[in-house]
Order: sequence, then C-alpha cells, then structure tokens
Amino acid sequence: MTDSSTGQAASAEADRIEAAVSARISPTSETLERVARVRTGLVDRVHSAASARRSPLVRALVAGSAARGTFLSDRLDIDLFLLFPPDLPRDRLREEGLALGLAVLSDTETRYAEHPYLRGRFEGFAVDAVPGYAIADPSHPLSPVDRTPFHQEYLTSHETPEVVAQVRLAKQFLRTLGVYGSEARTEGFSGYLVELIVLQFGSLRGFLSAARSWRIPVRLAQPNRDPPRLPAEVALILADPVDPNRNVASALSRRNLATVILAAGEYLDHPSEAWFRPVERSRLSRAESLERLHARGTHAAVIVLPRPDVVDDTLYPQVRKAERAVAEEVSRSDFAVLGSSSAVDADRVLILVEVAHPHRPAVRPQDGPPAGLDRVGHFLEKWTAPSAPVLQGPYVRADGSLAVETRRTDRDLEAVIRAALPRLSLGRDLTPPPTSPAAVHALASTPESPGLSQALDDLLAKRLPWLARPDRDA
Ligand code: UTP
Ligand code: MN
Repeated sequence: MTDSSTGQAASAEADRIEAAVSARISPTSETLERVARVRTGLVDRVHSAASARRSPLVRALVAGSAARGTFLSDRLDIDLFLLFPPDLPRDRLREEGLALGLAVLSDTETRYAEHPYLRGRFEGFAVDAVPGYAIADPSHPLSPVDRTPFHQEYLTSHETPEVVAQVRLAKQFLRTLGVYGSEARTEGFSGYLVELIVLQFGSLRGFLSAARSWRIPVRLAQPNRDPPRLPAEVALILADPVDPNRNVASALSRRNLATVILAAGEYLDHPSEAWFRPVERSRLSRAESLERLHARGTHAAVIVLPRPDVVDDTLYPQVRKAERAVAEEVSRSDFAVLGSSSAVDADRVLILVEVAHPHRPAVRPQDGPPAGLDRVGHFLEKWTAPSAPVLQGPYVRADGSLAVETRRTDRDLEAVIRAALPRLSLGRDLTPPPTSPAAVHALASTPESPGLSQALDDLLAKRLPWLARPDRDA
C-alpha cells in the first residue's frame, strides 16, 4: 500500500472504532432525560430551601458536564453551583452554601478543593454543591469557581450534538492515557479545556492531527489578545474566552502534553479500541524492584515523611518540589543520580532516589587558589596541619591552581540524605515536626504500601503507556 492509502485505511478504521467507542461511553437518551429532569428538580429544591431559610442565595445553577451532556456514562457527577451576593463575607458564603447543600442533599460529606464544598446525593445521583459568588465580570472572580456560569453559557451557545459526542471521545482518550483531570495530583486536561480544544479543532481527530506535530510550549491563544502571565515551564496556552488573562491549560504539565503529542501520531497511524479502554497496570512490588535494581547495578533510598493534614491540591506540588530538592542535593553530594519519584500514602509521603552506587568515594577533591594569590598561604596552612583529613596533596593542578583531596566520613546515601534533610527546603507543610522526624531507609527495609508500589513504578517501570499495556498485542 502507498502511504496515502495506508492513511485512508487507518482513518476508515478510526471511524469504525470511534463509532463503537461513542456508543459505549455515551449516556443513553433515557439517562440524558433523567439528568435533565433531576437538574430542574434540584435547582427548584434549592430555591425553595433558600426562601424557607431566608438564605441570601442569588441563584442556583447546574453547570459542568451534567448540564451539557459531555459526561462519560460511567462518570456522572452533577456540579451544583450556589451563587451568593459578592458582598457576602467568605465565612458566611461557606456557611450558607453548606447549609443549603445539607438541606437538599442526602449522605453528605464535606470535601475540600480550592475551597470547601459538599458532596452528597439527590434522587440517586452524586452531586457536588459548590458555593460561589454571583459576579458580573468573569475577569474579576472573587472565588475560584465564579467563572463557571460564564463557561456554561459560552459552551452551551457554541456546542452542537456532534461536538458533544467528540468531547466525550476526547475525554475517554485522555483518560485512558492517564492525563484527564486538572487537579494537582494529575496535572492533566480539565473538562473545560477539552471542550474548548474540541470546539477549536472540530473533533477528536482534528485535535490529534494538529497535536501530533506540536512543539512545547504550544500557543493556541488568539494572537490579537494579550497573553496571560505565564510560568517558565508552561506547556500549553489557551486563553479563557470569558477571561482572556487566564490560561485555561495552566494545570497541564509538559510531561502530560508531550505524552498526548506522541500518542496522537501513534493513534492516527495505528487506531485501535485499546486507546479508549483504561487498564489497571500491575504495580511493581518491593521484591521485583530490588531485582530490577540488582539488574541495573544501582541502589535506591526512600525518604519517609509524615503526611501533613492538607488537601491534595496543596500537598502534591509540595511533594514534587521536595522530590526535586532531594534529588538535587544528592547529586551535589557526588552521587550519580539516575532518577527520583514520589508518592503519597494515607499516612506518609515517600520520596525515592536511585543512584549508581550506594556509597560515594571516600575522596573529595577540593579546589584551591591559583599560585601567586595571598590566599595560598591560608590554604597551605590549613591542609598541611597534622590533623587535616588529607588523602592526597596539597598539589598543583595542570592549570596552575592548588588542590587537595580530603577524606569523607559520610559515604552511604542514606547517611548523606539524613544529614542534609534539616537543611533542605521541603515545602511549608512537609517539614516534619520534631516529634515525628523524617526517616531514611534503604529500599529493602521500607514497609510495602500502595504509595511505595506507585513510586517504584514511576522510578523503575517507566514506559510510554501504550507500549506498557498488557493487552498490547491482543
Ligand atoms: P468539573 O471539573 O466537574 O468539569 O468542573 P466537568 O466539565 O464537569 O467535567 P467532568 O465530566 O466532570 O470531568 C465543573 C465546572 O466547574 C468549574 C468549571 O467551570 C467547570 O466547567 N470549575 C471547576 C472551576 O471554575 N474551578 C475549579 O477549580 C473546578
Ligand atoms: Mn463535573
């Protein structure tokens, strides 16, 4: 076959696959009708509960994927927004929001994201009741969710049923790659971002055909708008149509976008239904990891910190920052660092570092001043003293400067990390309290846990997700 007929065959195959996947992941028309009825019922109930308790509520609104039909059939949460007057103090906003949520929902529990909300049930559906402010200008939100009604209006006025179906396909594709969700833990695509991208490119395949040749950072913002302020490591820039100074893709990491760019070409050239079927990969056990380390001829240490009582969106960025700080310190301490990873368990935070050798050399070369400088005297005095821990030198190097090689006492990785930890900036909430200090273990003596398996996987089983699938050749 020629290239172009291969391409045509692949695209006919993609048509067939996407139609089958669409049928599997789309809600039935019955579900959509039930959701529409529950939406109206829920908003009515909130409004009557609000007048019964003389709540300052301005209005209630169901937004998000349940309002637009862009949810996946196995993941339906109704996002209920309770909008209050902008002059209501924040603590009252929270109280009033929680009170209304409690009045209307059953089986409630308080949850925390950027700000607290109530998760509960209404007529068999899971509902998130989120308080916010009824603002007039979406470029000046008072709380993180205040742009939502404007998003809702923008999307409903632009989306057609074809776009809605393509949004679901795109969500399922990204979810299978593990990059759907904008929470700090995932650093992926938010639902709103997926909808804007599909609107811009018309379909999942329109998006992927463009994405396969993207180079990071990718700018999808309208060129005639002022760019939002951007962090150095930004991956994708797409201005929010309701607030051009906000980057809708600010949560997306470069690793996740690069994964999508690579996956785009792979899928377009080799479409299959596996691209839309998430699989649970088996994780590495500690024993398997020790075998891998043995085969690699390397060594790993595990730092165990108590898990602070903060929400995930606060915790994960700090854990990643602490991981970087540890890896940099280990590398500065003359270990050859091969990789690092981190994970969070119910009660502890884990940071792993892999190095080429468990011990660093006993010898530490130290630079001295060039011959002829006044400082030479001091340097020689210091390193010729009988008690100086000198292994070789002082001597003159080829470039004419003095050097000395001294003896280190701390040589193993765990001891070096233990000594360095108090100096490292681990993040506001991660710095352990004196009552439960950090522990540093060799991998062999670290207790097993889901977090450990996950971190070991990230350290020792790295592989493009579509190559790592157990059903790859099926
Ligand atoms: P969701 O994260 O639930 O997205 O936020 P979604 O579009 O419903 O997608 P899925 O199908 O559940 O995954 C719902 C709406 O809440 C607003 C956004 O406008 C989004 O469309 N939102 C959410 C915020 O404004 N800020 C947030 O931090 C989270
Ligand atoms: Mn939602």
